[in-house]
Amino acid sequence: MDDIIKIENVSKAYDKHQVLNNLDLSIKRGECFTLLGPSGCGKTVLLRLIAGFEVPETGKVYIDNTLVTDADGGDMVSADRRGLGIVFQDYAVWPHMTVFENVSYPLKIAKKPKEELTATTMRMIEMVGLKDLDKRLPSELSGGQQQRVALARALVANSSLMLLDEPLSNLDANLREEMRFEIKELQRELNVTVLYVTHDQEIALAIADRVAVMDEKGNIRQIGTPYEIFERPSDPFVFNFMGIANYLSVREEGGKYLVANGNQVIPWKNPEGTATSWVGGFRPSDVEVTRDGEGLTGVIKRASFLGATMHYLIDIDGDEFNTSIETHEAVEKNLIFEEGETCKISFKDLLWFDAEDLKEVTKQ
Ligand SMILES: Nc1ncnc2c1ncn2[C@@H]1O[C@H](COP(=O)(O)OP(=O)(O)OP(=O)(O)O)[C@@H](O)[C@H]1O
Ligand SMILES: [Mg+2]
Repeated sequence: MDDIIKIENVSKAYDKHQVLNNLDLSIKRGECFTLLGPSGCGKTVLLRLIAGFEVPETGKVYIDNTLVTDADGGDMVSADRRGLGIVFQDYAVWPHMTVFENVSYPLKIAKKPKEELTATTMRMIEMVGLKDLDKRLPSELSGGQQQRVALARALVANSSLMLLDEPLSNLDANLREEMRFEIKELQRELNVTVLYVTHDQEIALAIADRVAVMDEKGNIRQIGTPYEIFERPSDPFVFNFMGIANYLSVREEGGKYLVANGNQVIPWKNPEGTATSWVGGFRPSDVEVTRDGEGLTGVIKRASFLGATMHYLIDIDGDEFNTSIETHEAVEKNLIFEEGETCKISFKDLLWFDAEDLKEVTKQ
């Protein structure tokens, strides 16, 4: 087995609030794994369990094939003996220590020679963009700068397993992008395993080898490559969570699949499976809108010019959809519509979901 982290049947509750329920998860050695889920779903709780700061009610946690947590009793391996590099969401840095002292702390504990300690620390400080700030105290830094101190401190320890909890949330957009590639590059270069927790879809897709999507109840809905998660979502929850989602309701009558409240037949291959009612899921850019081409007839309810794209809210037999066309294309093909005009819609992509599964997502 080459799983560096293995979580088996882990449950965790606070008072009556069940956060994690019989959760299983394995992370392979050397991969960059992101855990993606909405705020409050239990991501930090899971990291704290792995790190050894929390004890679960049921289940086991293995790190590097060693049982480190066992809810059924037995010795816990304490947090400081798990060999992890950790960056917490609240970028806890020691307030009484300078940037240099904070970052060099793991090297000091490891009794590294002074020269090596200084050189490595300064290199990390520079790498996270804090050059010349090494003598400052955390109180003299912005939130984003403090977060980078925490990141540098975790990196300097050179552990083979890093747990990162939203380590980039306080950085501005440019720096965030730069840092996420830095993290990815370091991960490859040093061959460390990274477990990266975030609610940001874009970061999760950009840096991960594999992504796990968690729902509000702490259940993992899907694990896959970023491409699989985005292109082949296992259910409406994942589809919704990964971007703007449209659902066309479809009912079967006499072998025909009819759209919403009307009698137009959906121009797509029939769904496979046993559901009695269906929805066809698509993103705004998954449609082709024309004036009088193939497809379903719709009415433009609202037209919005957003610069690079035109957005049209389109009504098809009582269901409304968000669609987008690139402005260049819209101008070139005479597709600048006025509100109230009729249009034709065909699909470049359509995912069939059981309408019951969608109900479960939208009622939350
Ligand atoms: N020590 C605690 N005592 C009571 N409830 C807690 C405690 N820690 C976490 N919770 C609850 O557990 C749930 C999951 O919290 P968690 O911090 O793991 O969310 P998260 O997924 O990390 O969210 P975010 O993206 O906002 O950081 C929340 O409802 C939270 O209120
Ligand atoms: Mg959190």
